[in-house]
Amino acid sequence: MNVTAEPRAPAGEDPAAAWRHPAPVAADRDAAYLSLRHARKVYQTRTGDVEAVGMANLDIAAGEFVSILGPSGCGKSTLLSMVGGLETVTEGEIWIEGAQVTGPRRDFGYIFQDPTLLPWKSVLDNVLFPIRTQKRPVADYEAEAHRLLERVGLGEFKAKRPRELSGGMRQRVALCRGLINDPRLMLMDEPFSALDAISRDDMNLALVRLWDSYHKTALFVTHSIREAVFLADRVLVMTARPSRIVADLRLPFARPRDVTVQDTPEFNRICAWLRDQIQAGYGRAAPGTGG
Ligand SMILES: Nc1ncnc2c1ncn2[C@@H]1O[C@H](COP(=O)(O)OP(=O)(O)O)[C@@H](O)[C@H]1O
Ligand SMILES: [Mg+2]
Repeated sequence: MNVTAEPRAPAGEDPAAAWRHPAPVAADRDAAYLSLRHARKVYQTRTGDVEAVGMANLDIAAGEFVSILGPSGCGKSTLLSMVGGLETVTEGEIWIEGAQVTGPRRDFGYIFQDPTLLPWKSVLDNVLFPIRTQKRPVADYEAEAHRLLERVGLGEFKAKRPRELSGGMRQRVALCRGLINDPRLMLMDEPFSALDAISRDDMNLALVRLWDSYHKTALFVTHSIREAVFLADRVLVMTARPSRIVADLRLPFARPRDVTVQDTPEFNRICAWLRDQIQAGYGRAAPGTGG
């Protein structure tokens, strides 16, 4: 997907004015691919209620890659789980393609920090595992599994076992496994946080290249501001609990995207602004943004 916004220098008192997403919530919910309306989550625990997500209002278009930044424990994983139907909403609604989310969805791809590969299965069989569990014809997906593995640079490792791979390579396998059934939506929860810096840069590049051709709608949670900006079409910032979405930026970088975008002044200005929002914005809502 191409991002058409013009890169402009931030002006005056509101440095993010040039990038700010115009309407976090559209008037017409059906026009969006994914809609959150006053989605709130309160966990009941032995020591009392924990309001994990205060109130999330958001519309995401089909094909958008959206990064989510926010302090630890602010409810990012909870938000993703609610979207995937793995956690119920306490209040509010989540709609995907015109249907309300009521339970877990098999047509979504999930990638977590831990790749959780099956150690006794080959790389290829790990990628095909969701197809087996969903009792679909494996033969129909084999060509796609080979294609995905080659795309992420694992063409020569298809017959290896997970223990023979590095951490970054294992996460690439998890990425292919998440994409094998052509998911409608990818939910990624800090998938690269456990990797060393070089493997992480490598994964970012692999993912951005994949997205140049796959165009999936994606929610990507990360602690890394640069990773969030490099990968996404849009970046959201959540505050500390009870969390709200306090910033919603549309990034002005075209696709296909190259690492050199990270050296541009615009990229670094956006990262600096986001860092300020995360640091200073613990609970402070910027005017005109989500929430
Ligand atoms: N299953 C659960 N039961 C009770 N509390 C939970 C549960 N999952 C998360 N929480 C609490 O909800 C808050 C948000 O958690 P989480 O969504 O994991 O945050 P993040 O992913 O942003 O670090 C935290 O205070 C956490 O302790
Ligand atoms: Mg989390």
